[in-house]
Formats: sequence, C-alpha cells, structure tokens
Amino acid sequence: MTMVAKRVLLFQIAATLLLASAVAAAASNTTAAIPMPGCPNKCGEFDIPYPFGIGTNCSMEGFDITCAADPPKPFFRTGNIEILRISLVDHEVTVRIYMAKWCKDQAFHANTSVDYPFLFSATRNKFTVVGCSTLAYINGENDDTDSYTSGCISTCHEESSVSEGPSCDGLGCCQTSIPTELMVFNTYFDFNFDKGNVESFSPCSYAFLADQDWFQFDKSKLTEDFGKKNNDRTPAVLDWAIRRPASCPEAEAHPETYACRGGNTTCLNSTSGVGYRCMCSEGYTGNPYLEGGCQDIDECQLPLLYPCFGVCTNKPGGYDCTCPPGTLGNATEYNCTDIPSKFPAPARLAVGSSATIVALGALISCVIGRTQKSKHKRERESFFRKNGGFKLYEEILSKRLDTFKVFSEEELQRAADNFDDKRVIGCGGYGMVYRGILDDQRVVAIKKSKKVDERRKDEFVDEIIVLSKINHRHVVRLLGCCLELDVPMLVYEYVSNGSLFEVLHPEHHASHLPLQARLTIAEQAAEALAYLHSATTRPITHGAVKSHNILLDDDLSAKVSDFEASHLVPVDEEEFIAFVQGALGYLDPECMQTHRLTDRSDVYSFGVLLLELITGKKAIYTDTAGEKRSLATSFLVKMKEQRLRDILDGKMVVEGGEQLLGEVAAIAMECLSMKGEERPSMKEVAERLHSLRRFR
Ligand SMILES: *[C@@H]1O[C@H](CO)[C@@H](O)[C@H](O)[C@H]1NC(C)=O
Ligand SMILES: *[C@@H]1O[C@H](CO)[C@@H](O)[C@H](O)[C@H]1NC(C)=O
Ligand SMILES: *[C@@H]1O[C@H](CO)[C@@H](O)[C@H](O)[C@H]1NC(C)=O
Ligand SMILES: *[C@@H]1O[C@H](CO)[C@@H](O)[C@H](O)[C@H]1NC(C)=O
Ligand SMILES: *[C@@H]1O[C@H](CO)[C@@H](O)[C@H](O)[C@H]1NC(C)=O
Ligand SMILES: *[C@@H]1O[C@H](CO)[C@@H](O)[C@H](O)[C@H]1NC(C)=O
Ligand SMILES: *[C@@H]1O[C@H](CO)[C@@H](O)[C@H](O)[C@H]1NC(C)=O
Ligand SMILES: *[C@@H]1O[C@H](CO)[C@@H](O)[C@H](O)[C@H]1NC(C)=O
Repeated sequence: MTMVAKRVLLFQIAATLLLASAVAAAASNTTAAIPMPGCPNKCGEFDIPYPFGIGTNCSMEGFDITCAADPPKPFFRTGNIEILRISLVDHEVTVRIYMAKWCKDQAFHANTSVDYPFLFSATRNKFTVVGCSTLAYINGENDDTDSYTSGCISTCHEESSVSEGPSCDGLGCCQTSIPTELMVFNTYFDFNFDKGNVESFSPCSYAFLADQDWFQFDKSKLTEDFGKKNNDRTPAVLDWAIRRPASCPEAEAHPETYACRGGNTTCLNSTSGVGYRCMCSEGYTGNPYLEGGCQDIDECQLPLLYPCFGVCTNKPGGYDCTCPPGTLGNATEYNCTDIPSKFPAPARLAVGSSATIVALGALISCVIGRTQKSKHKRERESFFRKNGGFKLYEEILSKRLDTFKVFSEEELQRAADNFDDKRVIGCGGYGMVYRGILDDQRVVAIKKSKKVDERRKDEFVDEIIVLSKINHRHVVRLLGCCLELDVPMLVYEYVSNGSLFEVLHPEHHASHLPLQARLTIAEQAAEALAYLHSATTRPITHGAVKSHNILLDDDLSAKVSDFEASHLVPVDEEEFIAFVQGALGYLDPECMQTHRLTDRSDVYSFGVLLLELITGKKAIYTDTAGEKRSLATSFLVKMKEQRLRDILDGKMVVEGGEQLLGEVAAIAMECLSMKGEERPSMKEVAERLHSLRRFR
C-alpha cells in the first residue's frame, strides 16, 4: 500500500468511525483476528480482532482495549480488567477478576464492574464459595440498576465432612447460579458467621464468580495456595453484542450503522442482553465486522471437517463432492462404488433410474460389515432401514454428533455377554436393561427398547438425535444406539448404585438414606428436569418422573433416566392404559383427561417424588388396614386436616425437624395443584429446594 493510499484509508476510518463502519480493506486476510486496517492487531502475542481495538479510532464504541506494557497484556480501557480471551464466534470475552478472600491474617472483599456492551454470562459463570463454615454473599446490579443478592453457605465443622469433590455440594464448597445481565457486583463474607474450629484444615475461605468450566472442587482448594496460585483472581466469562439497535430487524433497516459488514454475513439477535451479533454465513469464515471479512472456506482443504470420498470442488459458500465417472454413491458420506456389471438386468434398470438405492446398499455394507451370512444380513439391513438408520447416520455425519455412536449388533452382544439374564439390571414398561462392557472397557447400560412403530420411525430417530445432544451431569447420558434389530437398542452411561426407588424402599428393612442426601437428590433431579424442559434444540418433557427413574451414582448424586419415554406419549386407548398403569401414583390428573403430557405433568410427578422422600412411602402404598392408597391423595387429605405429621417419616422428622419437612411439603403441595398452570415450573422448584438446603 502506498503512503497516499494509507492516508486516504486513515482519513476514511476517521470519517466513518462513529457510524461504526469499516472501510474496504485493500488486502483482506482470512483469519478472524484481523484488526481495522491501519490499526495494531496485537498486544504482545494476543490477537485483537475488530470490533475490539487499541485506541478509540481503532475499535467500535465500547470495545476499546489498552495494551499494558511489560509484559504486554490487554486490558479493558476502564476498570483495569485483564482480558484472557476474545471470541468472535461465541461472542464471549474471558477476563480475570478478583476473588474475595478470608485467611487468618488477610481478608478482602472484591468489587467488580464492567461496562456495556459486556455482561457477565449467566450460563457460563457460577458464584462459588470455598471454605469451611463460611457464608458469603454476592450482591450485584444489571444495567437498569435492578439489584440482586444471593448467598451461599459451606458447612463442614470437621475435616472428615469435607467433600472429596469434584462436586460442589455445600460441604467445603458451595455454588449458585447468577442472574442474567449482571454488570456490577461485590462478593463478601459474613465475618460474624461462626467459623468454629476449622483453621487446621480450612485456613482460608474464598468467594468468587468464575467460569464454571475452570473451577473444579477438591479438598486442596481449602488451603492458602489456591488463592496464591491464582494471584487471588479467577477467570470469568462476559457476553457481548452490538447493543444498539436492539435487534437484527432494526439493525438491518439502517445499513449505514449496520455492524455486519461486507457480504456473506448473518445477523443473530443477542441471547444475553439486547442487541445483535454478526456471524459469517455458512460456508464462510473470518471477521463479519469488517468489510470483506467473511471469506469462503475451501472445504476441500479441510477433509476432516468436510468429508469427501470422491472428487472435491470448492464453490462459494460450500463445496461439491461427486463420484468419479464409472462409480456411484454419495461421496460426501462414503466411498463411491464401481457400477457393478454383474447386476441382474432388472436390478440394473432400477439402479439406473435411482442412484440412491445403490447408495443405500453401499451404506449398509459399510455399516454392517461383510462377514455375515446373507439372510441374516438382509434382515438386519431391513431393520436398520425400517428403524430410520439411514436418517440417523446422515445426521451423525452432518451434525457431527461425535460423542454418539452407532453400534453394531455384535458389539452389543459381546458387551452384554449375549444378553445373559445375569446381566439384567432392570426392566420396565419401555424395555429390558442390561449391564454391558464395551471393547474399550467402558461399562454401559444397554436398553432393548420397545418396538418402533412404523408410523413413528422418523420421530424416533429425531428423538435419538435430540437426546444424544443432552449433556447435563444429572441426566443419564445417551452414548449410542443400534438399529440393526427389530427392537432397537439404546446405549447409556452406566450408573452404579441403582435407582432411588431401591434405596428408598429396600425389601427387608427401613431405608438408611439420610434426609440431607434426600434433599440433595431432589434438588439435583429438579435441576435436571428443569434443564430438559428448557433444552435448546427442543424442550423435552420427561413423561415418567418417578423414583424408579432417578438413578444414583456411587456418591449418591442423582441421574435422571428414561426420559426418552416422552416420545411415546400414547395415541391410542390401549397404549394409553398401559402408559397410565406404568405411571400409577405419579400421573398428572390433568393428563389423564387431556391425554397430553406437558412440562407441568413432570412437576406433578415430581411432587409425588418429594412426598416419597419425606414420608418413606411408595407412590401407591399399602396402609395399616392393608388397603392400597395413593400417596398424593393421602397427603392432600392430611394437609387439609392439618395433620401432616401423621404421614411423615418419623426418622426424617428427627433429622430435619418439622419445620423443614413442612417447607418441603409446601413445595410438594404446589406441585400437586390440580391445574397445570398453577404448578410452579421445574426451575422454580429446583431453586426453592436449593435455598432450603442452603439456609438450613
Ligand atoms: C480519532 O478520530 C477523530 C475524528 O473522528 C480525531 O479527531 C482524533 O484525533 C482521532 N484520534 C486519534 C487518536 O487518532
Ligand atoms: C494474514 O495475516 C497473517 C499475519 O497476521 C500473515 O502472515 C498472512 O500472510 C496474511 N495472509 C494474507 C492472505 O494476507
Ligand atoms: C465494595 O462494595 C462494598 C459494598 O457495596 C462497599 O462497602 C465497599 O466500600 C466497596 N469496596 C471498594 C474497594 O470499592
Ligand atoms: C430478533 O428480535 C426481533 C425483535 O425482538 C424479532 O422481531 C425478530 O424476529 C428476531 N429475529 C430472530 C431471527 O429471532
Ligand atoms: C460472498 O462471497 C463471494 C465469494 O465467496 C463473493 O463473490 C460475493 O460477492 C460475496 N457476497 C457479497 C454480498 O458480498
Ligand atoms: C474408502 O477407501 C479407502 C481407500 O480406497 C479406504 O482406506 C477407506 O477405509 C474406505 N472407507 C470406507 C468408509 O469404506
Ligand atoms: C448426500 O448426503 C448428504 C448428507 O446427508 C445430502 O445432503 C446430499 O443431498 C446427498 N447427496 C446425494 C447426491 O444424494
Ligand atoms: C454404591 O454401591 C456400592 C456397591 O454397589 C456400595 O459398596 C456403596 O456403598 C454404594 N454407595 C452408597 C453411597 O450407597
């Protein structure tokens, strides 16, 4: 670039900056890290992509960064906050902020604030308190100066009661979520809280907001080193967006200020706070905030991300992948096959008219392998097709469900020791469950599900795809499936300690499960259900919430299972009756009438589950007179007569006191409202259980 050209460019930048528009970049670069032309793009080794920039004329309003010297590190211009990561893809910035700390001879609070366009991410951060016998608070405000306070107590009076981790469960460590759109907050301790005699094993307490993926609890975090090692700071994640105007349609209506520059960009409404975000369109990559910043991806150079088993040709926004002459197939998915010369005439005709049949055939052979006898093979191919196998395979390839696997029949047979009866770990309305050991020694639960209805085969596969994306620590993870059988099989993560039902209602003695553990399980299950109800791809109704379907891990943490039942919400009468029998005692009375399951049906069932925990009785129990009774009904009657005590488990009352159990009962009562809309959401239930447990 000549000097003159450069000067013209700078002049233009100056002239148009307030409109947040960039100039046509003479030389464009395909990395996202490109800065405004003529501006420094690095601070030390750190890349600074536009709209971020060093100096006001090099950044969009609010994205101004200073580069501290020696060693060079990027900071926000205001607030002295160090930047650790900038992402244009997630629209996140990770920053380093101070924690509050309380050691024997050192104690400080922490006040943190950021300015628009940044907000602390409610999904990526957690308020965490570490230490024994510690109560700490977080007090914050959003942009509208709405204020919010939350506290977290960690109780552990002796060393033996500290959790081993990694779960942060109130014993040595406590965690809560924060509200959305937080901009300013203080974290501080209640110095009056009786610390007791914990100094020897918990000399320091810490309270901080941090990236939840960063912090993992273990006992060693109680020592002074934890603070020192991190310079008393923690990484926290901020969301950002172009805040004005407030949404894409408004932004697109004003091209002169529209931040998504050049072509091949897409606008997305901000999901955290008002505003919008720019992305490169599919098939493009780069910096959507710069003129010409989005460049075509040459997919042919990235075979791992964009598979092509044939001839690859790049084109704007995508690529073509075709089979070479003389071969057939879908080359984006598998190797092309030679056009067979030995096909009988009619078959060849069919092939000629429909390449997809050959394509399907080729896929089957690649999925199933070649060693099987042909009859069995044909059968399996047909099941695979009938069960929607191809559709699933396409999805797995196109959506890159990389933690999900399609298993072959042999693999699962081997894993479950030929489905030996000794391997059965459960059976229910929806199938038999076997314990299996995969070739890589992973222990799994293999479920032979109910037959897939031909009419619902597409739904079934869609369901599997949705479920495979669910990732929550209190939801049993779906690892894969096998569709080569008449009855499809699903492969789940193995949960070692059986179901809550077994633990609550052992056959020969009373349950040993303490109240504290029960409340923790309830909260975790509620959290998991709330997560399913708000799942991003599509909200999921569990449809069969009961103690049989809450599994327990070896540390007694809850894992919700069997949520795939939801796709089987019955349509015909016969199925419906079977369904009702399976859910007896837990079933939402409204659903009985409407035949429709909603997230509030799960809330009702959860109410019954809460009763099971505080009364020790089954959902349908036998009373002293030998009569079968519904726990929900008995409970409602006792509540009305104000004789709750009669139905509570005496041992629980001793452990928790009547008041606490009364509060749990009050939550259950609301869950059991006859009208769905009067029931709280699962999220509210989870939060109330959380605060009950915390402030006990
Ligand atoms: C930024 O641009 C303005 C004009 O818009 C100009 O007055 C100012 O000097 C520039 N600042 C710097 C540091 O270049
Ligand atoms: C892109 O930028 C990098 C350094 O940031 C440079 O090495 C590379 O040559 C540039 N590529 C093009 C095509 O301009
Ligand atoms: C932090 O915030 C608290 C509560 O708002 C306030 O009392 C304290 O003075 C602040 N500390 C600093 C260093 O700003
Ligand atoms: C973005 O938000 C606006 C206003 O809230 C709405 O009209 C528009 O449909 C949204 N666009 C998308 C893609 O969600
Ligand atoms: C999108 O990118 C292609 C190059 O891949 C380019 O030819 C086209 O002009 C761009 N579209 C716009 C609207 O700029
Ligand atoms: C495709 O062919 C290549 C070599 O021709 C082979 O290595 C590869 O395993 C084949 N892939 C599949 C899925 O059959
Ligand atoms: C090949 O498979 C992909 C992914 O499922 C699909 O989008 C494409 O249409 C298929 N191509 C042909 C020629 O059938
Ligand atoms: C979990 O199960 C194992 C054996 O299955 C048992 O040894 C252990 O005590 C159980 N843990 C709890 C907390 O019940």
